[in-house]
Amino acid sequence: MYSLDEVTASAPAKVILFGEHFVVYGEPAIVLAIDKRAYASVKMRNDSKIYINSTDLGIAGYFEKNRFISEHGDQNAELKLKPIKNAIQKVLERVRKSVGVNVEIHSHIPVAAGLGSSAAVVAAVTKATSHLLDIGLSKEEIASITLESERLVHGTSSGIDPTITTYGGVLLFRKGKGFMQIDVKEDMPLIIGNTEIERSTGELVSIVRQRREKYPSIINPLIKAGGKIALKAVNALENHNFTVLGELMNINHALLYALGVSNSQLEKLVYAAREDGAYGAKLTGAGGGGCMIALSPPERTKQIAEAIEKAGGKAFAVKKSEEGVRIEN
Ligand code: MEV
Repeated sequence: MYSLDEVTASAPAKVILFGEHFVVYGEPAIVLAIDKRAYASVKMRNDSKIYINSTDLGIAGYFEKNRFISEHGDQNAELKLKPIKNAIQKVLERVRKSVGVNVEIHSHIPVAAGLGSSAAVVAAVTKATSHLLDIGLSKEEIASITLESERLVHGTSSGIDPTITTYGGVLLFRKGKGFMQIDVKEDMPLIIGNTEIERSTGELVSIVRQRREKYPSIINPLIKAGGKIALKAVNALENHNFTVLGELMNINHALLYALGVSNSQLEKLVYAAREDGAYGAKLTGAGGGGCMIALSPPERTKQIAEAIEKAGGKAFAVKKSEEGVRIEN
């Protein structure tokens, strides 16, 4: 017998410190889970429909067999909810009886901003649904269901977002090869600057692919250099060498600019942070809008956040989150 109670799970957002985009081509990247989370509450229904309501996205609707019935939201509602529905179906396949669920999603993570909001939502939904149905899913299984569901909307994806939101902490990640935990004892004063320009990861991944196809002899060495930066940064992270980390962030940003994924607003925020004393600053995630991060001396976090805001961004400080996906109740 299944529990009729509601189960709530949550999963963290992430920032990529080093190696976004390069990671799609097999290079290592460093990613950190942060203290902003997405929450999913799941309840049994007495029919076999899957009802999903995302207050943050302003969309809700029912999936019944392969039909979608919109309750509210735009024409993209089905596409936006599909990865969530797919993850739920993967979990429901594990029980013999035909069951349906109601899912409520609340997230503190800005959407389409490079902070891994969609992977966090899918991982939280997967965890909550499996707990409700009393199915013990390993972290590996949660990450794999999340990745499969994410690929429906993002196309080519390295798997970095599903992995970090599932495991938390700070990871050196390599596509298809797994990850290694990096032991970062000291807190890193990180400020996020959000351009609030929404963008699609899939489109930016394809911009890089096209540039690489057009200029392989130029772009391939840049991708390789991106991987070397991530490897060099492991040591600097373990030794809390913020000066080196900042310099590596700046080099990483320059490579991403060369790949074609920065834009004028990101540049403004990155320069505002550097000019106000950040050790380093770079875009984070897919780019084309979304967010940048700055590594700040502890005593300058307020000034750097203000400089980012003055340059037109929305700034907030974040902390590392050791915990990945988890049950809340
Ligand atoms: C997105 O958070 C990071 C990218 O490298 C895409 C991916 O790795 O799947 C741009």
